[in-house]
Amino acid sequence: MIHARITGTGSYLPPVRLSNDDLVARGIDTNDEWVVGRTGIRARHFARDDQVCSDLALAAAERALEAAGRKAADIDLIVLATSTPDYIFPSTAAILQKKLGMANDAAVFDLQAVCSGFVYALATAEKFIRSGSHKRALVIGSEVFSRILNWQDRTTCVLFGDGAGAVVVEASDTPGILATALHADGRHSDILSVPGSINSGKVVGSPFLQMDGQAVFKFAVRVLGDVAIEVCKQAGIATSEVDWIIPHQANVRILQATAKRLDLPFEKVIVTVAEHGNTSAASVPLALDLAVRDGRIQPGHRLLLQGVGGGFTWGAVLLNF
Ligand code: UT7
Repeated sequence: MIHARITGTGSYLPPVRLSNDDLVARGIDTNDEWVVGRTGIRARHFARDDQVCSDLALAAAERALEAAGRKAADIDLIVLATSTPDYIFPSTAAILQKKLGMANDAAVFDLQAVCSGFVYALATAEKFIRSGSHKRALVIGSEVFSRILNWQDRTTCVLFGDGAGAVVVEASDTPGILATALHADGRHSDILSVPGSINSGKVVGSPFLQMDGQAVFKFAVRVLGDVAIEVCKQAGIATSEVDWIIPHQANVRILQATAKRLDLPFEKVIVTVAEHGNTSAASVPLALDLAVRDGRIQPGHRLLLQGVGGGFTWGAVLLNF
């Protein structure tokens, strides 16, 4: 039986770091106490004006390839999760393939599931690999949310940041990914959206992120708990047998509520939201790579990755690292 296993992780945070006080200095009507108290966010990183989604993805992908001991030419599948692509088309995955110097005929595509994007992408790549059609995948979450923030809307602009995270996933004889679950409920598509489109050279609707924060909060707490239980059941393990939970990083209060619902100590949750803000599809692979590189996550550990976001979408991947 073919299994899919993560063999390397990488990430990239762009160089511009802004604290909450830096946002106040830039004229945003907010304060550090409110943002830290409501969200746990202390800072976020923003891409330079000359950096686009594929640039961040490239840096993360190169680090993941190096960690896996692979070259770009070894990759036969790229699944890139983003809501802030370089262009309408071609896909950011195809632009990344070019930037990586890949001259093979790999399958590459973008995947749009907003903040659940990386979990959706990882579960998708796992199915390609387990089918035997592909052997080595790059799975990436890369975002430049700074480009879609409305700086007049303090209820959203303080929450998000830019970044990218990547993993190499390979066919293996031993189980890596143990269980996956992906869900969506499009009836709630309006609680978190960028409701704009382009028609005849003009933006129709709004090109800015808008969110009903309280509705998203309630939904997130419920589904993150449900989906964790679902994948553990699928794999026949108790939630207490998970070594590390790596949820989408939107709000530290959501992470605390999820740990409580699962009756797990908060120390088992990897938390990066304080320094990264919400980086949408990049948040889970960024947190994963950080904890791998600082030595908390060790080979053999059991990890629960969780995503939740616009769509409304949610999902989880349970794996042996
Ligand atoms: O990746 C997608 C997932 N996204 C999320 O998970 C976000 C989930 N939602 C949340 O994290 C929270 O709902 C927020 C952090 C977005 C908001 O927290 P809240 O406790 O729901 O606050 P609120 O929207 O009810 O606003 C409370 C007050 C309001 O003032 P009044 O009307 O009570 O006087 C807001 O005007 O806080 C005010 N406020 C702010 N004050 C200072 C809203 N934004 C700010 C701000 N700085 N940035």
